[in-house]
Amino acid sequence: MSVIAVTGTDTDVGKTVFAAALTVALDASYWKPVQAGLEDGSDAASVESLGVARARIVPEAYRLTTPCSPHRAAELDGVVIDPARLALPPIGGDLVVEGAGGALVPLTRDWLFADQIACWGCPAVLVARTSLGTINHSLLSIEALRARGVPLLGVAFIGDAQEDSEATIAAVGRVRRLGRLPRLPRLDPTALASAFADAFDVAAFR
Ligand SMILES: Nc1ncnc2c1ncn2[C@@H]1O[C@H](COP(=O)(O)OP(=O)(O)O)[C@@H](O)[C@H]1O
Ligand SMILES: [Mg+2]
Repeated sequence: MSVIAVTGTDTDVGKTVFAAALTVALDASYWKPVQAGLEDGSDAASVESLGVARARIVPEAYRLTTPCSPHRAAELDGVVIDPARLALPPIGGDLVVEGAGGALVPLTRDWLFADQIACWGCPAVLVARTSLGTINHSLLSIEALRARGVPLLGVAFIGDAQEDSEATIAAVGRVRRLGRLPRLPRLDPTALASAFADAFDVAAFR
């Protein structure tokens, strides 16, 4: 079984959309271990609408009510996130795991999502915007993951092409540029699978 953690430079960068496409391309399963915010629908529901079969979606370990950082959402629900309950689920094939927010989002007041990825011992993909501000956010995230010993498969960009920003992140961060998913005018399973196949070499994730 191989596991890939999908983390990001921020919330709303496109982790769920990318993770859905990656899960389908790898014929893998999808897991969002900690879902914070239930009112606007879950990431598990989003990936299902983007083509991941329901049978390939592993139930969340924690479903928290409030759309905020998991450590706080847990406190508001009166629960404590226990890293022992975040052990990788024993499934038959490959697994794509989507983080909450960015790499340094706290799961508890002394355990960050990047610590959890390091504990899993799996490689990570950093999902990053191409728009202004991304060089700083991407390089900070790369440093934070490396500082914890997380192997980085590379950066997956989302948005309009920004050649210099993407190349600069790859060069300064000494990281592979995996590809770039454009903003799709229509997000459905067919359009997403086709855009993913155009943008990424699936072998880079194997
Ligand atoms: N490649 C894309 N094309 C069109 N819309 C996208 C794309 N990537 C993300 N979005 C939209 O942007 C918003 C945030 O994306 P999402 O994948 O949920 O981010 P995250 O998981 O990082 O919070 C969603 O409304 C999603 O549908
Ligand atoms: Mg998401």
